[in-house]
Amino acid sequence: MKLRDRAAIVTGASRGIGKAIAEHYAAEGAKLVLCARNTEQLFGVRDDLKSRGAEVVAVAADMAAEKDVNSLIRTAHEAFGRIDVLVNNAGFGIFKPLLEMKTDEFDSLFSVNMRGPFLAIRDTLPYMISQKDGVIINIASLAAKNAVENGAVYAATKWAMLGFGKSLMLEVRKYNIRVVTICPGSVDTDFGDHNRPDRDKILRPEDVAEAAVLAASLPARSMMSEIDMRPTNPK
Ligand SMILES: NC(=O)c1ccc[n+]([C@@H]2O[C@H](COP(=O)([O-])OP(=O)(O)OC[C@H]3O[C@@H](n4cnc5c(N)ncnc54)[C@H](OP(=O)(O)O)[C@@H]3O)[C@@H](O)[C@H]2O)c1
Repeated sequence: MKLRDRAAIVTGASRGIGKAIAEHYAAEGAKLVLCARNTEQLFGVRDDLKSRGAEVVAVAADMAAEKDVNSLIRTAHEAFGRIDVLVNNAGFGIFKPLLEMKTDEFDSLFSVNMRGPFLAIRDTLPYMISQKDGVIINIASLAAKNAVENGAVYAATKWAMLGFGKSLMLEVRKYNIRVVTICPGSVDTDFGDHNRPDRDKILRPEDVAEAAVLAASLPARSMMSEIDMRPTNPK
């Protein structure tokens, strides 16, 4: 098992990519703290993983709420006495012309996609620094590297996440803390357009989960700071 007894937090684990990462981490022996807002879905994931023998704590948390993030990280440390891996996955998109974008939609995108990860990382770092070990994985997007028509604000949150991660990496690698940004192209989850004709040709959540396992399981002396992911069979 590649992550035996590693204590990992996965945000946005109630469905999609976060759920797949939780499932893969559990299968590799990790102890998990999962969060999302929808407790029915989240607790369903928790119960399923527990029934397969995993140690799992589920915490209802809105990544836009600082108190929720504080409580998530505190609960995680209390549960397992350490935090080895933090996966900042929770996120969402709003896609429409900029003239239709409301200020509160702009604020909400940055609150969840960038401010939430910032808060979670800031709360987690003291534990990782004292352990002199840790992996921070940020799920950005290829939208962090490309232009997205009708997605300027979403893309801006992901470009911000990429720049944040690259800079933080330089700051914390002296403590054996690795910062990895995963940039997937389109992934077949609730996030996207369910009616898109090419659903069988895009990435699957488990593909991103495999990358997240690899990123968390490299020897502490090495890290992949960025992982770009594309399907092999584009139209
Ligand atoms: N799907 C894609 O094509 C794609 C491609 C590249 C990158 N990404 C990125 O991958 C990440 C996961 O996306 P996905 O495709 O798995 O989307 P998804 O299926 O919609 O799942 C999003 C997850 O994030 C949680 N979440 C959303 N807002 C939250 C908040 N305010 N606080 C806490 N949890 C929140 C959701 O749970 P609740 O609603 O219960 O809170 C859910 O568990 C996102 O950051 C997204 O930007 C997706």
